Amino acid sequence: MMQHIILCGGSGTRLWPLSNKQTPKQLLPLFEGNSLLQLAYLRNQVACDSVLAIVNEQHSATVEEQLLHAGATNLRMLAEPVGRNTAAAIALAAFVSAPETILLITPADHLIGTPDIYAQTIETAQLLAAGNSLVTIGLQPTYPETGFGYIQYSGHDVIRFVEKPDVENATIMLQSGDFLWNSGIFCCKAGILLQELQKYAPEIYETAAIAANEWLRTGQLSLAAMEEIPSTSIDYAVMEKSNKVKVVPSTMEWSDVGSYEALAQALVQHYQYHNHQAVSIESGNNMVIGKEKLVALVGVENLVVVNTPEALLIMKKGKGQEIKQLHQWVKENR
Ligand code: GDD
Ligand code: MG
Repeated sequence: MMQHIILCGGSGTRLWPLSNKQTPKQLLPLFEGNSLLQLAYLRNQVACDSVLAIVNEQHSATVEEQLLHAGATNLRMLAEPVGRNTAAAIALAAFVSAPETILLITPADHLIGTPDIYAQTIETAQLLAAGNSLVTIGLQPTYPETGFGYIQYSGHDVIRFVEKPDVENATIMLQSGDFLWNSGIFCCKAGILLQELQKYAPEIYETAAIAANEWLRTGQLSLAAMEEIPSTSIDYAVMEKSNKVKVVPSTMEWSDVGSYEALAQALVQHYQYHNHQAVSIESGNNMVIGKEKLVALVGVENLVVVNTPEALLIMKKGKGQEIKQLHQWVKENR
């Protein structure tokens, strides 16, 4: 049995105004009443007998409530007064776990469409982790995404791990055919992770140890201790450097729901989604999300309409990557 580590620090700016600071994307109950967080818990509950959620303090109560509601029993919460990126979050999780415990570290905000393939993938990952590897799940890349990590591989062996390449390199790696995307789902023993962290990112190791020990004594992570931890992702801190990294290539259907287009596709494909509160004439291929007001569409196509108390978003499909910038502008100017 493994311990499920849920990384739940995301702030959700790419699905504004559906998600916002109070309710990031992973907490929205969009999937037949479940949130991405709850789905993340549910898909791992067979392989894991305990859960440790690492969250921003601000969302801690909601996260705990959602996990309990989904049926989590053996649950611990690590509430961060400030997020210090994934290397810190994972280090804290490892420090408060027994060294031999196998951690299954997953983001809270991914959607996986093929639970059976996922379960098989995780089983293989667990076996490799039991043999002291740092295991990551790899996926067949389909376009030159620059926001992901790329893994050059041969079987389970990792030849090279490249985090967030520029578009030229992403294109070369995509075309070469021997790279996978890093899914951001990791599996390893707590002790092995810490050993590699100590080797490649000693400053994170030492400062996270202090914060974790404080948590073990007092039940709280202090702002002062957290601020001492350098803010880097686990990909840069360990995965690019360690020679203990192995990959499990998977054909599972996976999305990090990083845009409205991705959300719309997932909702339609897996959840027989029908538009909320909408009437339309001579319109097609639109997606209406949110129940604030009745939305009436006439003669329009390929729109995403997001209908919330905070704002009404009308976006042409294909422009989803602009939302982050739009949200930034709104934050600064309104
Ligand atoms: N608790 C906590 N604290 N969680 C965090 C923090 C933090 O400070 N920072 C990030 N997280 C959570 C996010 O909420 C997300 O669920 C997960 O950790 C990964 O962080 P992202 O910020 O979304 O990483 P990324 O998308 O840039 O890159 C990672 O994921 C890609 C796949 O989605 C990398 O692992 C890439 O290599 C990978 O391809
Ligand atoms: Mg991400």
